Order: sequence, then C-alpha cells, then structure tokens
Amino acid sequence: MRLFGKTLTATAALVMTTSLALAEDVEVLHWWTSGGEAAALNVLKEDLASKGIGWVDMPVAGGGGEAAMTALRARVTAGDPPTAVQMLGFDILDWAGEGALGDLTEVATAEGWDAVVPTALQAFSKADGKWIAAPVNVHSTNWVWINKAALDATGLGEPTTWEELVAVLDKMKENGITPLGHGGQAWQDATVFDGIVLGMGTDFYKAAFVDLDPAALGGEQMAEAFNRLIKLRTYVDDNFSGRDWNLASAMVINGEAGMQMMGDWAKGEFLKAGKVPGTDFVCIRFPGTQGAVTFNSDQFAMFNVEGDAAKAAQGAMASAIMNPTFQSAFNVVKGSVPARTDVPNDAFDDCGKKGMADLAEANTSGKLFGSMAHGHAAPAAVKNATYDVITAAFNGEYADGAAAAAALAEAVAAAQ
Ligand code: BGC
Repeated sequence: MRLFGKTLTATAALVMTTSLALAEDVEVLHWWTSGGEAAALNVLKEDLASKGIGWVDMPVAGGGGEAAMTALRARVTAGDPPTAVQMLGFDILDWAGEGALGDLTEVATAEGWDAVVPTALQAFSKADGKWIAAPVNVHSTNWVWINKAALDATGLGEPTTWEELVAVLDKMKENGITPLGHGGQAWQDATVFDGIVLGMGTDFYKAAFVDLDPAALGGEQMAEAFNRLIKLRTYVDDNFSGRDWNLASAMVINGEAGMQMMGDWAKGEFLKAGKVPGTDFVCIRFPGTQGAVTFNSDQFAMFNVEGDAAKAAQGAMASAIMNPTFQSAFNVVKGSVPARTDVPNDAFDDCGKKGMADLAEANTSGKLFGSMAHGHAAPAAVKNATYDVITAAFNGEYADGAAAAAALAEAVAAAQ
C-alpha cells in the first residue's frame, strides 16, 4: 500500500513537473480589486491554472481603470510591459496605434471569433484587420441598483421616467435614508451622467458623446442634463467625496442608501454579499433609457513580448477567455454579460438575463452606444476633458446647467 502510495506520489510529481515546465506565466495588469471583482478574477485565474498557465498578479486599484492606465504607461516606458492588460475601448486602439500590441489573429481565425463577437466590440478588438485584444465581457453603464426594502418603503413603483425617479428619491429622503449612494470620483460622476444623457434621447447621446457635435454638447438639452446632475447632488450624503464605488454599493446593500447609479459590475458586489435580485435588490435601466444601452467591454490586450513560449501563453490565455463555457462562468459572477452572441443565458440571474436581452435588442434597433464614461465613445483626451466638466458641475462650480454645457462644448473642442 505504502509503496503504491509512494509510486502514485512520484507519478503525480512527474506530471506536475512536466506541466510546470510547459507552463508559461502571464503577468496580468488589471483593476479588479473589489470583493465582487476579485471573485470574478478568481474564475479567470483558476481557469488559466487548469490549462497550465501561471498567473503573476499586477492589480492597480481604482474603478474605471485610470490609475491602471497610468501604471501601464510607466511599465511600457521602462521597456517592461506586462503580458496582458485589462483595457477599455479607445485605450486599446491607442496602444495598437503605437505598435505596442501583439497579434491574436491566428487564434481568432482558428476559433472563428469574427462570427461570434458583436461588431460593436470588434471595433475595439481589431486594428488594421488584426485581432489585438480578447473581450471577456460586456458591461453597461445605464443601470440603477435599488435596495428592494427601501423601494417598498416609498410605496412607489420602479421609476421609469426622470420625474418618477425624483419622486422615489424624495420619498427615500423623507424616510430618513441617503437616497443616492455615490462616490465622488470623476469616473463615477461620469457614469451617472452617461445615464442622464442617454435618458434625454438616443440621438442626443450619439450627437454629443459619439459625434462630439458642438451644438449638442453646448445646447439646451445638455443644459437640462447638467441641471439633472446638479439635482442628483442633493440626494447624496456629506461623505460622498472620494468614496470608492464598491463602498457606495455597500451602502445600498445594507440599506443605508436607497439606490446607486452604476454599471453592472455593482451587481457583483450584491451577489458577493449573498443578495438576490428581485428579493433584496432590483436592477432597472436608468429611467428613460429603456431599450437603449451604453456599453463598455473589458478586453485583454496582449503586449509585444519576446520568445515563443511567452507568445504561446498569450494565445492560450486569449483562447481561454473566449471559451463560451468560461464566458458564462465568469460573467455570472462579474455582473456583466458574455462578449459572444452564442452563449446560453441559463446560468444567469434575472438581471443578467435582462442584460443579455437588452444588449441584443439595443444592437438590433440601433440603440447601442459606447459608454462615454468608460472609454468607448471618444478617445482618452476627450473623455478626460468631459470628466472635468461633469465633476465640476456635480460639485456646484457652475451657476447652472447652461454654464456647464457651454464649458463642456469648449473643453471638448480644446481636447480634440
Ligand atoms: C470596468 C469594470 C470594473 C469597473 C469598476 C469598469 O471600467 O469595465 O470591469 O468592474 O470599471 O472598477
């Protein structure tokens, strides 16, 4: 028995040594550091480990990824890029333009990615006809996460218009809770603004944030959008400044706040806390944006690395990310939906099923747009200029919405 046990151990050791020898580590830069994000990241790490791909973690905290992008720039400047990097929209295209990214076309062609990745995503996964990134999910920003008990206590239904939203927020205030859980960070302010602007009309959203039309950026509708943002400021607590988004989610989870306007990564926090959609919380589209979606997609871009083994590991990681079974398992935890059109929705909760259906519907009806706040509507320079005006408006630095709109048109023009 003992001898048999020893033999087995030796065999196992041999197998392990062999696979370790074949395994190539990937160093992965990402900003998934909240509880829900880390849980989803684990699904990815474990999947790669099962394929013999080792993981060297490079987390850079900071929602929306701004800090991560600064860290990335420093690594590339030092001539030592990480193997794989979580990246959003126009940032991917910018790095491709600098010639810094590897080519995933071989694995993409072998696995038929062209046929299953939505075209709106491919716009950021390909450059000059080559695949340069593997999309792991589709998030969307025009969601509101509401504590169910707090909503029930208002005696009102789920708000479907701006006016109904204001009525619910007012009632929550009367009921003695913070109506809006929010973190005062530029990207969070901008995420809320995505929903407000989309709620003023899909043509308006496109004209302002995608086409960067000065008339839309500085006009009356934008003035009204800023007035709405300024109004929302009256529903946050005194300690909102600088608060991380997941702490704002926690306020809604524990009933201290009524709702949070945030992308569906927030759902990951609710799930991590053991909360059930429909029972403990409800997910609704930002009032007035039903049928439309502002999306962002986390993609893993692979940087130019030396050596066949390192390149093979990048290909293997990209292939693992695009596997339909993995896409289901990962996105169920992350709060997002798959980046492929052929993944069944069975494993997803009601919010996930709604997310998948909304995405498909918005895509068909021409109401799917890149998120301004999350780098899918305009390049970083324009995004950052927009952030500045939104945050200043939220913090009461303009006399009114019209003054903020005028400042936005000017800032965007200067950033182009
Ligand atoms: C990313 C999400 C992430 C969120 C908050 C977004 O830009 O797409 O994956 O969970 O930022 O960190």
